[in-house]
Amino acid sequence: MKEDFPFLERGVVYLDNAATTQKPNRVIEAISNFYRYHNANIHRGIHTLSIEATDMYERSRERVASFIGAKPKELIFTYGTTSSINFLAVSLLRSGILKEGDVILLSSLEHHSNLLPWQNLKKFGISLKFVDVDEKGVLNEEDVIRSMEGVRFLSLTGLSNVTGQRVDLERVTDAAKKRGILVHIDGAQTVPHVKLDVSKLGIDFLSFSAHKMLGPTGIGGLYINEKYLEAFSPFLVGGGMISRVTLEDSTYADPPEKFEAGTPNIAGAVGFAAAVDYLNSFGMERVEKTDRDLTRYAIESLKKLDFVKLYGPGDERQVSIVSFNVDGAHPHDVATVLDEEYKVAIRTGHHCAQPLMRRLGVSATCRASFYLYNTWEDVDKLVEGLKRVKKWIG
Ligand SMILES: Cc1ncc(COP(=O)(O)O)c(C=O)c1O
Repeated sequence: MKEDFPFLERGVVYLDNAATTQKPNRVIEAISNFYRYHNANIHRGIHTLSIEATDMYERSRERVASFIGAKPKELIFTYGTTSSINFLAVSLLRSGILKEGDVILLSSLEHHSNLLPWQNLKKFGISLKFVDVDEKGVLNEEDVIRSMEGVRFLSLTGLSNVTGQRVDLERVTDAAKKRGILVHIDGAQTVPHVKLDVSKLGIDFLSFSAHKMLGPTGIGGLYINEKYLEAFSPFLVGGGMISRVTLEDSTYADPPEKFEAGTPNIAGAVGFAAAVDYLNSFGMERVEKTDRDLTRYAIESLKKLDFVKLYGPGDERQVSIVSFNVDGAHPHDVATVLDEEYKVAIRTGHHCAQPLMRRLGVSATCRASFYLYNTWEDVDKLVEGLKRVKKWIG
C-alpha cells in the first residue's frame, strides 16, 4: 500500500474517505501520462493524436461500464454523482417519463444531492414521498416496500454517507420491479465499497463519482438502462453531441455521445478507468471485506467508550462509515483535537444530510470513514485521540 499510495508517506491517518479517497500512483500516472503524451480533443479530429485520445476515452468508458455490469453505451460520463442526478431528473422530465401527477419515493437517509434535484420537480406537479428511518437512523427495507403504493419512481441511496447502512438493494429493487416502479440508486458510497452489478440488480439508473473510488475529482458516471436511451432527452446540448444542425433545428448523435455535449473530462475518464483497474486488481470482494472488518473493529472499539454515542445499525449492515458524537464536546472540537494532536482526519458537520441530522436530534456528527489502505492501527489512533478529547473536556 505504501508503494501504491504516495499520500501514506505523510503519516496522516486519513479517515475521511466518504468525502473523497486518496489516489494510487497508477491513477496519478495515467492522468499525467495522458497530458504529457496523448493530449488532444476527442471525436472530431482526424489526426493521429485525436484518434488516440478518442480511443483512450472510449476504452475508459468500456472499463468503467464493465465495472458496474453495464454496456458501454449505457454509461455517460458526468462531473460526479450530483451532476448525474441533476441530469437524470431533468431528462426524465423533458422526455415525459416523469410527468405531472407522478410520485417519487425517497428516504430520509438521502444526501442533499439525491433530494434537491427531485424537489425541483415539484413545480411540475410531481410529488415526493418519504420513508422515515428510526431514531438511530436505520432504514427498514420493509418500510420502503410498504410505501411503494402509487409510486412511479424510487430514488434511494445504496449506502448511507452518514450511518454507513448498506441498504438491501436486491430486496427493494425486486419489490419495485414487481410494481412497475422505475429505480435509481445513488451509488456514490455503494459503488466504491461493494460489488454492484446493474444488470443483475435490474435497476434503471445508477449515479456514482470517481473521486470516492480512488479516481480523480470532476468525473463520475450515470448508468442509463439501454431501454431509455432513445427516449431520453439530453440535459446539456451543444457541440459534440449532434448529428445535423440547421439554424432552426438539430438532430442528435447516437448515445452515449448524445448525452455528452462539449469537451468532456478526457484525462479524468482515463484516470477513472485506472482507478477501476486498481480496484479490480485488488478485488472488490477484498475491498468489501477490508471495509467491513475495519468498520466492525471501529464499532466494537468505540462501544467501549461510554462517552461516545454511535449512530446507524451497528451490525453487519454497516460498511465503511461510522458516525458518532462525544458527550459534552462539539464535533468540530473533536475533529480539531484529533487533527492537531493525532494527525487523524475525520469529517464533522451535517454531511449534506440535514433532514437525517434532524431525525437523529443533532445538528452535526463526527464521521470516520474507511477504505482499503486503512489499518486497525488507524482505528486505535482514533480511539486514543477520543480518550484525549474526553480528558480535555473533563
Ligand atoms: C450518498 C451520496 N450521494 C451523493 C453525493 C455527492 O457526490 P459528489 O459530491 O461527488 O457529486 C455524496 C457525496 O458525499 C454522497 O455521499
